[in-house]
Amino acid sequence: MSDFHSKIQAQGVVPVLVIDELDQATPLATALKTGGLKIIEVTMRTPVAAEAIKTMTKIPGILIGAGTVLNAEQCRIAIDAGSQFIVSPGLDKGVVDAAQDAGLPVFPGCVTASEVQHAWNLGLRAVKFFPAGIAGGPMALKALASVFQDMKFMPTGGVNADNLAEYLSLDAVIACGGSWIAPNNLVREEKYDEISSLAASAIALARSTRT
Ligand code: 3PG
Repeated sequence: MSDFHSKIQAQGVVPVLVIDELDQATPLATALKTGGLKIIEVTMRTPVAAEAIKTMTKIPGILIGAGTVLNAEQCRIAIDAGSQFIVSPGLDKGVVDAAQDAGLPVFPGCVTASEVQHAWNLGLRAVKFFPAGIAGGPMALKALASVFQDMKFMPTGGVNADNLAEYLSLDAVIACGGSWIAPNNLVREEKYDEISSLAASAIALARSTRT
């Protein structure tokens, strides 16, 4: 397992952020770090996403990745902004190549055996499982993992505090991603203390599930 994969596995949960205003970037990343989450995904879904990544990478001790990376060009923009890992909703070879060329870990979304097999043949040993809930949840993951024995999965999409433990109890799950740790309403209302508490609860739950 790569160094990055070990780190993400140790954290167990990855907060997925949608940042609408650049001035949310620093307090949000700081709140998550205070709660114990130091690996953070910023989705490339808003106009300020790349700038937010650039801003957050200035905070010491955290690793910022880009999510919702849809093509190679967006991948390069995310990398130029300082992203240290790349996440995609689906499997696109251009995105995987751009990330691998830069030496960065990449997690393309895969839910079928064909997609997982394609990712495996691109040299990947960890993928995003998205949208986890409606793609069959833990049962589907178990079935895929029984075939792709050296592949790890990061379920995202419908993961929350209620089902996190069920996903993390599977050996094939490297970590779970999700927006429940930093929901948009709390970010808009600048309730950063509540976000720190959600982060701390998520990390505590992840640790207790795995020990
Ligand atoms: C993602 O960006 O990966 C997903 O939209 C997050 O899914 P969630 O909002 O159900 O956690």
